Amino acid sequence: MSEQVLTEAMRCEIDKALTKFPADRKRSAALLTIHIVQDLGAGWVSQEQLDAIADYLGESRVAIYEVATFYTMCKRDPTGRYNISVCTNLPCQLCGVDKIVEHLQKRLKINFGETTADGKFSLEEAECLGACVNAPMCQIGKKYYENLTPEKIDQLLAELEAETKN
Ligand code: FES
Repeated sequence: MSEQVLTEAMRCEIDKALTKFPADRKRSAALLTIHIVQDLGAGWVSQEQLDAIADYLGESRVAIYEVATFYTMCKRDPTGRYNISVCTNLPCQLCGVDKIVEHLQKRLKINFGETTADGKFSLEEAECLGACVNAPMCQIGKKYYENLTPEKIDQLLAELEAETKN
């Protein structure tokens, strides 16, 4: 089954990743493998893909589910093209993240856990993302956006909107 659910490009990248781990420790590659499938796919991993990953690595499905459900960066539901994770922990709160959240929700007309009607943006509340020194901040894909202000959000959304037109 894994051959149909995981694309050739995914399997190729997984094979490369597996060379970094001892042959009898494929479970250690679970997180990296999930990331590969997520990044080369639709930005999230389906149940079917998780099962295929387990089969491909020769690990139990439970072992893969444990990883996928533990890390919030493993998306198990469809998200918008840009999933905006906003840290709302204390240091970000103290630096005014509420205003950023309010601005984002107003601009995108969605709440946390929702996706815009055009499928471009999702909004998600995140725990500390380790960039407290430059709070408030958010993460989109693998990039961090720090020292946010409503103006910076406007600029960022405009840039992302422009990207979707390319
Ligand atoms: S509290 Fe927001 S990045 Fe740490």
